[in-house]
This record gives sequence, C-alpha cells and structure tokens, in this order.
Amino acid sequence: MKVIALVGSPRKKGNTDLLIDKILEGAKKAGSSTKKIYLYGQTILPCADCRKCFKELKCQENDDMQKIYQEIDDSDVVIFGTPIYWYSMTAKMKLLVDRLRPYTVNNKLRGKRAVLVIPSDEGPKACKDLIKLFANIFNNLEMQLVDSLCVKAHERGEVENQPESLEKAYKIGESIGK
Ligand SMILES: Cc1cc2nc3c(=O)[nH]c(=O)nc-3n(C[C@H](O)[C@H](O)[C@H](O)COP(=O)(O)O)c2cc1C
Repeated sequence: MKVIALVGSPRKKGNTDLLIDKILEGAKKAGSSTKKIYLYGQTILPCADCRKCFKELKCQENDDMQKIYQEIDDSDVVIFGTPIYWYSMTAKMKLLVDRLRPYTVNNKLRGKRAVLVIPSDEGPKACKDLIKLFANIFNNLEMQLVDSLCVKAHERGEVENQPESLEKAYKIGESIGK
C-alpha cells in the first residue's frame, strides 16, 4: 500500500503533524510506503474555474499541485489532516480541495481510501460538521472515508501528552497500511 498524508496545518510538529506521524508509523509497521506533504510549504494557486480540466482531464495550472497530483494518483490511501479553523478546514487545505476538481472527470480517486485527522480546541463535538463536509466531498469523488480522528488540543504538540490519541492514530495507521 502507498499512503500519502497531506498536512494542512501551518505548524510543523503541531497536533495535526504529530497525529499524522503516528498514523504513518503504524502504516509503515503494517508494510506500507508513506509520504508526508506539508501543504504550507507548497505553492497552491486557487482554482480559477477555467474548466480546462473538463476537456483535458487534468489541471493546466503550473504550480506545486502538479507533483501533489502525481503523489495522490500513485497512492492507495490519502490522509487529509487539518485543524479546525473557524469550524472548517484551514485555508491551505481548502485551496487543495478546490484543486481536486479534475478528479470529478478523470475519476482517478475512485475507490481510494481517505482518512481525516482533525485536532481542535473544542474537540470531537466540534469536529462533526467538518467530517460531514469532507464526507460529501469524498462521496462526490467516490472515495471511501475509512476513518477519522478528532482530537481536543490547543498548544503546539499537545497531543504528545495524550497517549490515547497517539494510540488511536497508530492503530488507524496499522489498519490502513495492511
Ligand atoms: C485561525 C484559527 C481558527 C481556529 N478556529 C477554531 C474553531 O473554530 N474551533 C476550534 O475548536 N478550534 C479552533 N482553532 C484552534 C485549532 O484548531 C487548534 O489549536 C489545533 O490544535 C491546531 O492544530 P495544529 O497544532 O495542527 O496547528 C483555531 C485556530 C486558529 C489559528
């Protein structure tokens, strides 16, 4: 299996990042190859609704999304990690999600598995609406949402003091990595 993780938090070693690391550790243990991409280090232009992807089946914008598309295409599982920002995803994750539009016509995401990693100050209760939002997106793309991890955390790296969250993350990794 190939697992790709998209880190949609600007904080390296933040909660999203650390939870994703644990998932990838479990996935590796289960035999998968893994890759992590920090979206905040990438140039991702907004979707311009040019609709060229409808004809060409791929995005014509020349930015870092081209290599991210390749990584996504080559993967079996895609982890979307974003802290809750104002009851939604971060701006950078939204830029990426908007750029998934070519997949509505090339169907290359069909059957791939998705995992959500969502830390927030308020915790799992506040996470429900964002899970629903992503579930609609995955449904449209014919991806299968196999697991989601919602964790209450505020400070950078706070999840390191939550063995149960790290354990959950590791187990998700083991299960998707098989
Ligand atoms: C701009 C901004 C908006 C936020 N909005 C919310 C929110 O609506 N609900 C919430 O529970 N936490 C909110 N948070 C808190 C983050 O979700 C929380 O600190 C999270 O642990 C950060 O994850 P990270 O360490 O991966 O960056 C917000 C944080 C920022 C910076």
